[in-house]
Amino acid sequence: MSTHVAADAPTGTPAMAAAPTASIASTKRPVPMPLAEPESALKPPTVEPLVSDPPTALFTQALQVGTPALVYDYPGIAASVRRMRQDIAVVPGARLNMAVKACHTPDVLRHLAVLGLGGDVASVGELALARDAGFSEITTTGPAFGPTDFAAFRAAGVVVDLDSVDQLDVYGLEYQNTDIGLRVRVPLPDALQTNTTFGVNSRFGVSITDPAVHDALRRHGLTLTRLHLHTGQMSPEALVYKTDYTLKIAARFPAVHTIDLGGGFFHLYTHRGRARAAFARVAEMVQAWQDRHGRAIALRFEPGGAILAAHGYLFTEVRSVTEHHPHYGTRVVTVDSSAWNLAPWHKPTVLAADPAADGGVVEPGLIAGNTLYENDFFATGIHGELSPLSFPRCRPGDRLVITAAGAYTMTNSRRFNRIPAPEEFAFEDAAGGLRRLEAAPFA
Ligand SMILES: Cc1ncc(COP(=O)(O)O)c(C=O)c1O
Repeated sequence: MSTHVAADAPTGTPAMAAAPTASIASTKRPVPMPLAEPESALKPPTVEPLVSDPPTALFTQALQVGTPALVYDYPGIAASVRRMRQDIAVVPGARLNMAVKACHTPDVLRHLAVLGLGGDVASVGELALARDAGFSEITTTGPAFGPTDFAAFRAAGVVVDLDSVDQLDVYGLEYQNTDIGLRVRVPLPDALQTNTTFGVNSRFGVSITDPAVHDALRRHGLTLTRLHLHTGQMSPEALVYKTDYTLKIAARFPAVHTIDLGGGFFHLYTHRGRARAAFARVAEMVQAWQDRHGRAIALRFEPGGAILAAHGYLFTEVRSVTEHHPHYGTRVVTVDSSAWNLAPWHKPTVLAADPAADGGVVEPGLIAGNTLYENDFFATGIHGELSPLSFPRCRPGDRLVITAAGAYTMTNSRRFNRIPAPEEFAFEDAAGGLRRLEAAPFA
């Protein structure tokens, strides 16, 4: 069973696209179809997909808890992390960090930290979560950091990746002659731009050719040690382009030792073989750069959605069914969770929560959320456009499961109508039951 696609989701926040999953095994639930693959010059070898089918036990255990419930598949997360790290390992000195913005649930973050990941944070609040989780390293960038943020990051030993000339000035006046990183805006060529990619149209980062950036670095005696970028969803070709672009910048700054290429791995991993081919090319480029310049350069990657989304399952109960809505021309099923509050951009696969119901009749329809917002429908695009889903016939009291809910669901959640967020649970193995997870208190 599995993941979903929302290729038209905005970036800067998650764009959810399905990573292909493994073939159907008898002990597993059915899988969705992968995205169609674009043509590529990068040759894909045949490899196991990034995301494996979840075990049936996750769904049988979830029958024992109330709804709405968000269940994380811990072994599934570990398997995807292992595969990603294996792919990245071909690049000398490269490491995988987690975009903490995708999940604030302390136990899930600890699970990721124990797997050996670092964490990228976007606020002092996320910094506290990342430190408590025990991430091996912490990076940060944000568009509106001010003096108190800088002080908190410095106290934690985190070098800040500054986002603007004004940030360079505010930081530089207080902390002259220190190390900094820079978030860099990358002028991606048109061929690498999609509606989920942000190159020259990004509002974040500085242009490295802007003389004001160089003046500010000089004025405050700041030493540039890291380049940091995130361009939304990233194709294999964009990964290679961004590596080339930033290696050229690093060649001009002798103290730069790290390039953080950001997240956006949903599109990168549309086909894992193509992602691996891109990493192999990146490895060659890094090796050649190191040989030419006689110094090491370490890459970082910081996906959020591609690590967690496919491994979160939102269990929800059907509250009412309108078999034929006169306007929508299809059935409208209202459930006890809200797309608007939890999953405004998801294009999930929706299944019967009970695995015993697999193979039952599936029909088109819309799934509406439990708020009084008219457009509270699952699987809407970023402009509110509806796409009908195919899901089991159901009646009030039945349970459905909405897939691909493991990333950004809770961190983006709204409290519209004062409806509480779902309870969160960890699935760990087939033997026990689900373990209830505490949400992080909002300090
Ligand atoms: C700086 C930065 N890094 C990483 C990410 C993670 O992106 P994704 O979840 O698409 O991998 C984001 C998302 O907004 C980001 O802004």
